[in-house]
Amino acid sequence: MAGGTKADGVLLFPLLLFLSLHCSSALKSSDADRTFVIDYENDQFLKDGEPFQYISGSIHYFRVIPSNWRDRLKKMRMAGFNALQTYVEWSSHEPEPGVYDFTGMLDLESFLKMAQEEDLVVILRLGPFIDAERDMGGLPYWLLNKNPDMRLRSSDSSYLTYVDDWYGNVLLPKIKPLLYENGGPVIMLQVENEYGSYPDCDFAYTSHLRDLVRQGVGDNVVLFTTDGDGASYLKCGKIPGVYSTVDFGSGGDAKKSFAAMRLFEPHGPLVNSEYYPGWLDHWGEPHSTLDSEVIAKTLDDMLALNASVNMYVFHGGTSFGLTAGSNMGSTFQACPTSYDYDAPLSEAGDPTEKYWVIRNITQKYLPLPSGDVPPASPKYTYGNVQLSPVGNVLQMSTLLQSLTQQYPLTFEQLSVASGLVLYETVLPFRISDPARLSINEVHDRGYVFVESRFAGIVSREQELYDLALSALPNQTISIVVESQGRICYGSQINDFKGLTTNVTINGNTLENWKMVPIPLSNVPRLSSALKRLKFKVTTSGISPQELLATPQGGMTFYEGSFNVPDDDSHPQDTFLRLDGWGKGIVWVNDFCLGRYWPEVGPQVTLYIPNGVLMKGPNTLVVLEYEVSPCVLPDSCLLTLQDKHVINGPTPA
Ligand SMILES: *[C@@H]1O[C@H](CO)[C@@H](O)[C@H](O)[C@H]1NC(C)=O
Ligand SMILES: *[C@@H]1O[C@H](CO)[C@@H](O)[C@H](O)[C@H]1NC(C)=O
Ligand SMILES: *[C@@H]1O[C@H](CO)[C@@H](O)[C@H](O)[C@H]1NC(C)=O
Ligand SMILES: *[C@@H]1O[C@H](CO)[C@@H](O)[C@H](O)[C@H]1NC(C)=O
Repeated sequence: MAGGTKADGVLLFPLLLFLSLHCSSALKSSDADRTFVIDYENDQFLKDGEPFQYISGSIHYFRVIPSNWRDRLKKMRMAGFNALQTYVEWSSHEPEPGVYDFTGMLDLESFLKMAQEEDLVVILRLGPFIDAERDMGGLPYWLLNKNPDMRLRSSDSSYLTYVDDWYGNVLLPKIKPLLYENGGPVIMLQVENEYGSYPDCDFAYTSHLRDLVRQGVGDNVVLFTTDGDGASYLKCGKIPGVYSTVDFGSGGDAKKSFAAMRLFEPHGPLVNSEYYPGWLDHWGEPHSTLDSEVIAKTLDDMLALNASVNMYVFHGGTSFGLTAGSNMGSTFQACPTSYDYDAPLSEAGDPTEKYWVIRNITQKYLPLPSGDVPPASPKYTYGNVQLSPVGNVLQMSTLLQSLTQQYPLTFEQLSVASGLVLYETVLPFRISDPARLSINEVHDRGYVFVESRFAGIVSREQELYDLALSALPNQTISIVVESQGRICYGSQINDFKGLTTNVTINGNTLENWKMVPIPLSNVPRLSSALKRLKFKVTTSGISPQELLATPQGGMTFYEGSFNVPDDDSHPQDTFLRLDGWGKGIVWVNDFCLGRYWPEVGPQVTLYIPNGVLMKGPNTLVVLEYEVSPCVLPDSCLLTLQDKHVINGPTPA
């Protein structure tokens, strides 16, 4: 492109700065000869005209707080890796239509520049769909508000309109200056993501995406796709003019896996774009682990074939807030908050035994940078934190805006991204005792109350949609519906939340629903609602028992605070342990750590990075859905300890 014009004038200062950081490697190359291409003749990449093999690792900026970015990148570089791979998450950057966020943990450009400073090139996976065990696979929920019948990941024009706008007007203009040819770190861009695993097989869509990306970033950057290592995947994943790569894990025959790629790319470098050092978890299923030696062996095999490899993930980090997604296997399976993945760097960023075993392999192929691997961060036991109930969700709902409709609306129709919605109606007729309440289907979990008395739970995970109910005419039936994260993979990613069908009692449809979104993903609105709840509680003479929505303390907010010593060794990383608590969400200093559910495991503790703590007093807010130890005030505690537990017991 116009590389030659950039050598003088305004860019001189940044260029000098860049040179000083990258002494030897950058000295010989100005923008004009920064090239990265596929050498089809010799089955390799060429970087600045030289053969180039990458050993890359995935780290998602949106799963690590920014104050830890450099540490994680440095540790990866020190394992001999020379490239970073990350997804771009559309849903986080455009949380509501036309509302954009590239700040803090979403400051993509700073993250990529930091990778460059740490001597890593970047392989960027643009999406728009990313899977990644994230809510709706990284697609914005509001697409389903714009058009409930939208065919996601297809050439449906109601979908493409928003993709075109996001790519053309927002994302690609940010990426272009970061391309390798323009002085940045980005050598490759991925188009879509494992599209061959999606049933649509819509070539008009994938060609459109390719053209859109080309239009935004020019003709020079290498575009690629990633698909499973079978012809059936590659068949629909392949895009003409875009380089096909495969993904596969350890223990098999790497040659055979790459043979599938060769069916579609007879020449060019071999690439495994997702090599798995571990695997993802689901709530209620045992923690996944993979043996380091087996990982090392297949990595060695691939590198010996001159393949370039990306390890998915090198460091998984944390699905903070309500960003974790779900899978639809034989049943609905929600993903936990930890994204440890049994990766070489643990969730808290510490080098594991696997890190050293892998480093032993990489150094056979690429030079290890000089210097020491940064040590694990210190962890601290801040001890017990006393909490007390603030009030409950039903009480809060009376202070919030509501909407009334004949039939229930979904979260998407209500413009609710995540969290909870309270659905409420008055029983208009006499019913048998007990009667069958059917909520077929609830997405994903419903907590049912009659006249504010807890009556039971319905659950999509357990496919339990019916409840025996006793109620009198004119009594209020309330259902607090929880989204456990939208499906992130497969044909059911248009996963509407809330009451997605009518609710019946003995076959009779209930009508006239009042719906109240509880503002859990918006901290200012939650703080304001909590303030008003506290005021209501203190001014209306509500007794301590009445603060709890259920006799066991469910659907109730709790608050507490703890002190971090005022010396230079603090704050330190710590882990939140919730013995006696059931299922819910926690905020520390208004930062949402994510969902907890130690009852079903395997994740028992939540990671609190030191960057969200401060010296002196720190605040904690807990929203518990089911059961707390706070029926007895003395036991209304949780614990901050120095050990992480992500492999706890799970149900039979
Ligand atoms: C790997 O690349 C080197 C250098 O180009 C070459 O000599 C060797 O034959 C290649 N190995 C394989 C398995 O292709
Ligand atoms: C690294 O390799 C050396 C030499 O093969 C071996 O002695 C050592 O145990 C290995 N270390 C790890 C952590 O695998
Ligand atoms: C229900 O409430 C309405 C309005 O208060 C009243 O007119 C009606 O008689 C009540 N029905 C029953 C069965 O109690
Ligand atoms: C609920 O029932 C009404 C009346 O039969 C129907 O029009 C509506 O589509 C139903 N809603 C859903 C989500 O099934």
